[in-house]
Amino acid sequence: MAPRVDALYFFLLGVSGFFSLLIAGLIVYYAVRFRRRAPDAIGARIAGGMVLEIGWTVIPLLITLVIFFWGASVFFAMARPPDDTLNVYVVGKQWMWKFQHLNGQREINELHVPLGRAVKLIMTSEDVIHDVFVPGFRVKADVIPGRFTQLWFQPTKPGRYHLFCAEYCGTKHSGMIGSVVVMEPAAFQEWLAGGPSLSPAAEGEKLFQSLACITCHRADSGARGPSLEGLFGRPVALSDGGTAVATPEYIRESILTPSAKVVAGYQPVMPTFQGQVTEEQILHIIEYLKTLRPAPAAAIPVPPAGAPSPAARPQPKSSPKP
Ligand code: CUA
Repeated sequence: MAPRVDALYFFLLGVSGFFSLLIAGLIVYYAVRFRRRAPDAIGARIAGGMVLEIGWTVIPLLITLVIFFWGASVFFAMARPPDDTLNVYVVGKQWMWKFQHLNGQREINELHVPLGRAVKLIMTSEDVIHDVFVPGFRVKADVIPGRFTQLWFQPTKPGRYHLFCAEYCGTKHSGMIGSVVVMEPAAFQEWLAGGPSLSPAAEGEKLFQSLACITCHRADSGARGPSLEGLFGRPVALSDGGTAVATPEYIRESILTPSAKVVAGYQPVMPTFQGQVTEEQILHIIEYLKTLRPAPAAAIPVPPAGAPSPAARPQPKSSPKP
């Protein structure tokens, strides 16, 4: 991204510099050229100049349009990561950066990435707004509590690059710094394999057991909560008649504020897990849910002919009996 951002930036500097010099130069030149030569001299009356008016309207319009389309194309390239990225989770916290790779390797204030591979950071904050800024890569994005933001880059040169927090986040904001280490792919694989940690999905599975999510969200029928198999990324029918898509935001909200969106056919009985799970753990649970495939077709009871449509099927056993 750096050469593209720089090219646009130097173009802006060039245009600004050119017009600043042109205008300042003309002011000085005309001040001298048309100075009052005799004490009783009177200036000529000028009614206007259509060519001039059109010229200084149309030329700046064209230049600003160039800047607009150029800027928009760079913006789109930054906002749209390619499909095949190496994903890394980032949690910002007063005052450190926590990174976790999908194999479980974790690091603090240091991010190792392989050369030449597009990397996508999926980021959230444990407390206040932070901002990931890697000046060497010309990328920067806010890290916001309660939301997932993303940022992507493709390193082209090995080395160590500054990483800053670019949003004032409290006393030690200026100390919230680190580095991005770009390694040769083979060295990166070696480094990555050195981690003893569980993968985020495995951590999530452990949490799913230890927080007892599993007691209600079982795959069998009759569970108190909806089954979560194959949930990720799918639309969910809600009890208020609306639908939601099972995005990371939806899952996070359902963990922290379960009553906000209740799945159709279920009672709002789930307690909040606010204060019991960290943002990192929520990311782990999301990774775990991604791994839950829908149950094989044979395991799904086939409704007998004439039975109500599947949409009306998920009636919990705990609903009041007539
Ligand atoms: Cu985090 Cu400034």
